[in-house]
This record gives sequence, C-alpha cells and structure tokens, in this order.
Amino acid sequence: MTTFNEFRAHYTPLIDDYLQKHLATEVDDQKISQIMSYSVMAGGKRLRPLLFLATLDALDQQITDHDLRIACGIELIHTYSLIHDDLPAMDNDDYRRGKLTSHKKWGEAEAILAGDALLPLGIQWISEGSQSAALATIITKAVGPNGMVGGQYLDIDSTNNDSVAGDSQFINRMEWLKTGCLIQASVEMAAVAAGASAEQKKQLLVFSRAFGRSYQIYDDLVDVVETSEEAGKATHKDQEAGKNNTLTLLGIKESRLELIKLIDEAKASLTGLNGTVLAGFLALYQKVL
Ligand code: IPE
Ligand code: IPE
Ligand code: MG
Ligand code: MG
Ligand code: MG
Repeated sequence: MTTFNEFRAHYTPLIDDYLQKHLATEVDDQKISQIMSYSVMAGGKRLRPLLFLATLDALDQQITDHDLRIACGIELIHTYSLIHDDLPAMDNDDYRRGKLTSHKKWGEAEAILAGDALLPLGIQWISEGSQSAALATIITKAVGPNGMVGGQYLDIDSTNNDSVAGDSQFINRMEWLKTGCLIQASVEMAAVAAGASAEQKKQLLVFSRAFGRSYQIYDDLVDVVETSEEAGKATHKDQEAGKNNTLTLLGIKESRLELIKLIDEAKASLTGLNGTVLAGFLALYQKVL
C-alpha cells in the first residue's frame, strides 16, 4: 500500500517535468512561454493535479501519460487563477510561491496575458488527455461564473464591505466557489475518467465537498499562522485588506474547529475505497491546527 508521502514523492517530479517540457515545446512564442513557465514552475504544492491522480489511484486505475496531461492541465488553470488573483486590481500581491509575482517580474499586461493563455491551454490539455467530452464540461463549469471566477467576483465585491461581515452563508458560498469548485472538479474528473460506480461517485463527492470547503479555511488560517517565508506569499494581510472570510467571521479558534470537523467528514467519506493516499492530503492541515 502506498502512503500519501510516497505518492507525492513519486508524482510531483513527473508533474513538474511534464509542465516544464510541454510549456517549452507547445507554446510557439518563446517570450510568452517563458512568462507562463515562470509562474507555473515557481513551485507550488501541485495539490490539484495530485488529487486528480490520487482519485484515480483510489479507484484502482492505472495512471497513464494521458492522465498526466489532464493533471497538468488542472495545474495550468490553477496557476492562471493565482496570477490574476495577485494583480494590482485584485489582491495586489508582490510575492507568490516564494518569488516575485508575474506582474512584478514581467509587467501587468504580460501577467494578464500569461493568465489568459494558461486557462485555454489547461482546458486543451484536459480535453486531449480525456476519452470523454464530459471532462471539459466539468472543468469549464468549475472555473466559470458559477464557479471560481464567480467566487473571485464575490470576494472582490465583498472586500471592505461590512454588510457581509457576519454573513456566514455568503462567506461559505464565496469560499466554496473561489476555491472549492476547482478542487471538487479535480476529484470528479477522475471519477468520470475511471468509470467509477454510482456509489463510489457519491462517496467521492462527499470527500471533495469537505476537502474543497476546508482548503480555503486552511488558506485563511495560513494568512494568520505562517510567516511570509513559510507561505511563499505575503501573510498577515487579509484583515488589513478588508477581506471578509472564514477567519474574520469565526476567529482563529472556531476556524480551526470548523477545519477539524471537515477533516473528519472527509476521512469518514472514504470507507470502502482504496483511500489511504486521499486521506493523506488532510495531513497538510497540521501546520495550521
Ligand atoms: C492558493 O492555492 C490559493 C487558493 C486557492 C487557496 P495553493 O495553496 O494550492 O497554492 P500553491 O499551488 O501551492 O502555490
Ligand atoms: C485565492 O484566494 C483563490 C483563487 C486564486 C481562486 P486568496 O486570495 O485567499 O489566495 P492567496 O492567499 O492569495 O493564495
Ligand atoms: Mg484573492
Ligand atoms: Mg490572494
Ligand atoms: Mg489567502
């Protein structure tokens, strides 16, 4: 039986190599290729591609090069979301993944365009890697106006807006959309690709809902618990920036309890699946508990 750490140690270099090689060879213009690569290869936990691959593993699926293309497509889309999230008009951040943000390094127009380029390339890789047209529908829904971008809009719209400060329903929805949807889609695409049974899909949906919701609570806690060196991005910043999130809603103690509740829910959902690796993802949260 493989542990999460063994799984991660095996697949992270494969993901990194694939991303590096294919960004260099599949993007014609070497300048924009370099700008895209800069952010993609800056580091990052590769959580979403690993989650996609680990879900295939939980369903006893052999992982192929096609699956790697899908996994890396997810990472391209995630990286686009980070580049745009950091722009001056959005969260206005100078550091990401331990390096200067894209707009600080290359300029604002260049960063916008690198993000614009990563999104469709990610969708292309997912479509090409999959046998089923269903995957492109899952990913586009997850990152569109009823998913990630919708959540990012609500985040921006509610910044420095006291009227949502105590609105737990709003904050849950906003955080689910901006972060949970892409995580859920990473699991759902694997379930579809592996031809999971209805029962397995139901279980994985419960897992991905709990994990997807928990991830932004974790990220909100990172902002108050970690140093910027540890996080690779500015921390101790959300409250000052007027963000309304789980942490400003519940405080640190209650946010941790909420995270623990979701960890238990996610673990319980895996009974009967080959879920050791998937359960291992939840150990990431130890640093903020
Ligand atoms: C950060 O995502 C932004 C969120 C959606 C919470 P990650 O914590 O996965 O960032 P990287 O990919 O490791 O840099
Ligand atoms: C980002 O949320 C969510 C997306 C990029 C979709 P945050 O703004 O909290 O993420 P960080 O803290 O900058 O990584
Ligand atoms: Mg943001
Ligand atoms: Mg941000
Ligand atoms: Mg954050």
